[in-house]
Amino acid sequence: MSQHKVIYDTDPGVDDAMALVFQALHPDIELLGLTSVFGNATIETTTRNALFLTSRFAPHVPVAQGAAAPLERAAPQPLAWIHGDNGLGNVDLGSAGEPIASATLDARPAHRFIVDTVRAHPGEVTLIAVGPLTNLALALADDPQIATLVKQVVIMGGAFGGDGVLGNVTPAAEANILGDPHAADIVLGAAWPVAIVGLDVTQRTIMSRDYLASIGERGGAAGQFVWDVSRHYEAFHEQSAQLTGIYVHDSSAVAYVLAPHLYTTRSGPVRVLTEGIAVGQTIQKPSTMPVPAPDWDSRPSCEVCIGVDVQGMLALYEATLCGANRH
Ligand code: BDR
Ligand code: CA
Repeated sequence: MSQHKVIYDTDPGVDDAMALVFQALHPDIELLGLTSVFGNATIETTTRNALFLTSRFAPHVPVAQGAAAPLERAAPQPLAWIHGDNGLGNVDLGSAGEPIASATLDARPAHRFIVDTVRAHPGEVTLIAVGPLTNLALALADDPQIATLVKQVVIMGGAFGGDGVLGNVTPAAEANILGDPHAADIVLGAAWPVAIVGLDVTQRTIMSRDYLASIGERGGAAGQFVWDVSRHYEAFHEQSAQLTGIYVHDSSAVAYVLAPHLYTTRSGPVRVLTEGIAVGQTIQKPSTMPVPAPDWDSRPSCEVCIGVDVQGMLALYEATLCGANRH
C-alpha cells in the first residue's frame, strides 16, 4: 500500500518535471492529482506541461488548472531563460505541445480540487507545493477547515540564510515565495503541519552532469527524459552559477516526504514580507528564541530544513529512477 497520498501543486518547470517523474516512479507515493499554477511559465503553459507529464508518466492522474496570477500582484513574466520557451527545457512535446483541450482537464479549479480531495481523504493527504502558493491560499479561503484535515504540507520555497543565501531572484527572495508573497504568508500561518524545503538545502544538493548522464543511460525512458529536459536548465546553471550540474529544488520536497531523516529541521513560526525592497523574504523565529515577537508568536510552528544528507538524497532519486526493471 502507498504510504503517501499526494496532491502535487506545481508550475512545470524543468525541476518540477523531474520531481513528477520521481513521484510517479516511487512505490510509496500515490498521486491523487496535479494542480497547476502560474510561475515558471503562464498558467496555460504550466497546465499543458502538467498534462504532458501525466500522459507520459502518470496516466489517469487528474490535472486541475489553478491560478493565473498571484492574489495581489501582477502575473510575473515566464522564466524562459531558465526553463525554456515551452517551460520544459525546449524538449519536443510532440502532439502534447498543442494548446490544451479543456476536456482533458478536471472540471474544477485547482483550489476546489484540493478541498474536495482533502475532504475525501481526511488526515491522509500530503500537499507537495513547488510553485507560488496561490492555489493553497485559495483552498484555505474556500474551506479553512481543510487545515485540520491535511496530513502535511511540504513546500519548496524560501531561504533562511544558510550559507548566507536569502534568495535566488532578489537578494532577499526565493522565486516561489516572491511569486505570491501574500499567499505564502497565509499558507505558512495556517494550522496545518508545514515543512519548508528551501534554498538552504536545495542549493547544497547538486545533480552533476555525470550523475544526470548516468540516469539518462540507466533509467529507461524516464531517465532519458530527465537527461533531455535538464539540458537547457543545466546550461542556465553553468552560465549563472558556474555549475556543471543543477540545483535540486523541487525533487528535494519529494525526498523530504519519502525520507525526512535525510533532513535536519528547525522549528518555529515563519513570516513572509509582503512589501518593501525585501518583499518575499522568509523569516523564522526559532522556537528556542526567548524574546517576545508578536508578529510571529500567534502563529503555528513550521519545520524549516537547515541541513541535508546530500548523498542520501541523490542516492534516493537515482535508485527510484534506475531501480530494478527500469529498462
Ligand atoms: C523554484 O523556482 C522555480 O523556478 C523552480 O521550479 C523551483 O520550484 C526554485 O527557486
Ligand atoms: Ca517549481
